[in-house]
Amino acid sequence: MTQATFTATGHLVLDSNPIEPRTVRVAIAGCGVVGGDLVRLIRESASDVLTGDGVRLEIVSVLVRRPEIERGLPLSPELITSDVSRFQSASADIVVEAIGGTGVAREIVEDALARGARVVTANKALVARHGAELATLAARAGGRLDFEAAVGGGVPIVRSLRDSLSSSGVVALRGILNGTTNYILSRLAEGTPFDEALALARRLGFAEANPERDLNGSDAADKIAILSWLAFGIDPARLAVRTRGIVGTADRLAADAKAFGGVLRLVAEARAHSGGVTAAVEPTIVSADSELGRARDETNVVQVKTRWNGTVTTSGPGAGGRPTAAALLGDVRSAARPLAVGIAAGAVGSGRAEPETPPARWVVSIRRESGVGSELRAELRHTGVHADRLEIDSESGVIRALLDPAKWDRVDALETRLRRAGFDPVVSRYLV
Ligand code: HSE
Repeated sequence: MTQATFTATGHLVLDSNPIEPRTVRVAIAGCGVVGGDLVRLIRESASDVLTGDGVRLEIVSVLVRRPEIERGLPLSPELITSDVSRFQSASADIVVEAIGGTGVAREIVEDALARGARVVTANKALVARHGAELATLAARAGGRLDFEAAVGGGVPIVRSLRDSLSSSGVVALRGILNGTTNYILSRLAEGTPFDEALALARRLGFAEANPERDLNGSDAADKIAILSWLAFGIDPARLAVRTRGIVGTADRLAADAKAFGGVLRLVAEARAHSGGVTAAVEPTIVSADSELGRARDETNVVQVKTRWNGTVTTSGPGAGGRPTAAALLGDVRSAARPLAVGIAAGAVGSGRAEPETPPARWVVSIRRESGVGSELRAELRHTGVHADRLEIDSESGVIRALLDPAKWDRVDALETRLRRAGFDPVVSRYLV
C-alpha cells in the first residue's frame, strides 16, 4: 500500500519518495554583499530546498553593474550580465531584486510583476514608496510581491505582521530598525570615534551604499512605513514619518542620554488612532536594561503591541549580507512552493494615513559658553514647554533639560527658537 506523509513544510511525500520536483527559475538583480550571499546560500541549501519543498531552484541570470569584477561565486560566467533587457528575457519564475534604490530596481520589479512573475526584494525604499501600487500590479497579473528582507534584515517581522499577527489587533509598533546606527551607537558607548565606527559598519556590510540614509533616519523611516502598511493597512507612500537622525549630533545625544541615566537608540515608532496613523523615527533615550537598551551592535528589535495578543517582541541581526540573504531565501522558498504544488499566491493591501502628534517626554540640550541656563528657561516659557529638571555641565558648557510631556509641534518650535538664537540644540525622546 502507498504511504502518504507530509514534510515539515507541507510537501506531500509518497512511499518516502518526493513527487517529481519542479525546477523553479530564479533571476537575481544585484550581486553586492546581499546578492552575493544569496547566491552562496541558494547553492548551499539546494538539497534542503529539494527535499523540504519539492523544488529545484535554478539560478538563470544575475544582473550586475560591472561584470568584469571577480566575485568568487559559484556561478557560471555566462549567467552574469550587465544588460537589463537580457536579464529580463531570462523569463524567471522568481525575480529577486537586491539592487536597492528606486531607479533600475523599480523598472525590473514592475516588468517582472507585469508578466506575472513572483518578486522578492530587500528594497525598503522601493516598497515604502511604491509598495501599494506594486502589490496591485502583482495581484492583477497573478504574481506576488514579498519583502521580508526589506525590514529588520534577518528578523522575521514582515511575514509575522502579514500572517500570524494580522488578527491580533495591532495598535502600535516600536523598535530599532537600522543596524548601522545601532552599531555606531554601540561603538560610541565604548569610546570608538564616530568616523571609525561608521567605517567599521560599512566594512561589515551593514551600511547603505549612501550611509547618509542610515544616519539621517530615512532608512528606518522607510521601514516603519512598510510595517505600518502591514499592521494598519495604510499606504506607506502616504504616511508622513517624523524623521530625526544622528547626523553630526551622535556624540552629544549619547552624552545627554548618559547624563539622564539612559542610553541612546534611534527608535522607530507607529501608532494607530481614530484619525489614522502617527509615525516617527527619532533619537530616544531608553533604560540600559530595557529591550531596546539591551539591543547592541546591528541588532534590530520590533515590539508589536496588540489588543488580543499582548506585546510580541522579535529581535535579531538587522543588517548584513548573511541574515538578509537568509530572509530573501525564505521568501524565495515561499514563492516557489506553490509553483510545486499549484496553490494560488496572494498580494497585500492599502489604506489611509493621517498624522496626529502624541505628547512625549524629551531631553533638550544646548551649548552655551556662559552656561547659566536662563536663556533656555526663557525659551521654554515662550514655547509653553515645562522642564522637570535642568542641569548645567560646567565642564562642557552644555545645559540639559528634561521636559514634561509635550507634543511634537511644541518641542519643534522650541528647537527652532534655540537654533535661531545660536544655542546649537539637540533633542531626544525620553523613554527611561
Ligand atoms: N543599512 C541597513 C541597516 C541595512 O543598517 O539597517 C539593512 O536594511
